[in-house]
Amino acid sequence: MMYKIAIFVSGRGSNLKAIIDSIADSKRKIKVVAVISDKIDCPAFEIAKSNGIKTYSVSTIERDGYISYLSLLEILQNIETELIVLAGFLKKIPDILIEAFTDRIINIHPALLPSFGGKGMFGINVHKAVFQKSAQLSGATVHFVDKIYDNGKIIAQESVDISDVYSAEEIAKRVLKVEHSLLKKVIKKFSEKKVIEKNNRIYILN
Ligand code: GRF
Repeated sequence: MMYKIAIFVSGRGSNLKAIIDSIADSKRKIKVVAVISDKIDCPAFEIAKSNGIKTYSVSTIERDGYISYLSLLEILQNIETELIVLAGFLKKIPDILIEAFTDRIINIHPALLPSFGGKGMFGINVHKAVFQKSAQLSGATVHFVDKIYDNGKIIAQESVDISDVYSAEEIAKRVLKVEHSLLKKVIKKFSEKKVIEKNNRIYILN
């Protein structure tokens, strides 16, 4: 039985590509059933289409080429989506989706939450803040998505040494590598039902 995931993308799609490649390499029982963006077209959509994956542009405002979140919800349910993965999606996920997919929406954040998270903390803004604080470690966090930005329970983190960097861009490059490896690992664990909650904490089983 395939484990079906839908991926919400930022535009660039490097996390999407890393997931698709990891699924292809190891013939995992995971299938990307949809790629969603708030943009009408973006490099990430090209990656999806070249892998035969359906793409959807979603908007809170009815416009040509976009579907509503309600329509998207119906589609995701009809194609039996089991996990929603946000990979740089910059819009807030509406409550209807969060309520329909409770504990089944995860986000990859390019810093070690709860530090350097929250509204406006995305992309290079995160790494600039990390750089300016002279943080010596950064990394990536995969967490559950709830109704507050970057607030859901943390599932996994991976740190990276940035004591020798001279720019925010260098941090971004090192963290992106860690994002790709961490996100792939966590999705696989979800597909194997090895992500559990106990006493209010999340555990990933071996
Ligand atoms: C990543 O840095 C991710 O942490 C952040 O948005 C970016 C997505 O990059 N949430 P890409 O589109 O997957 O390359």
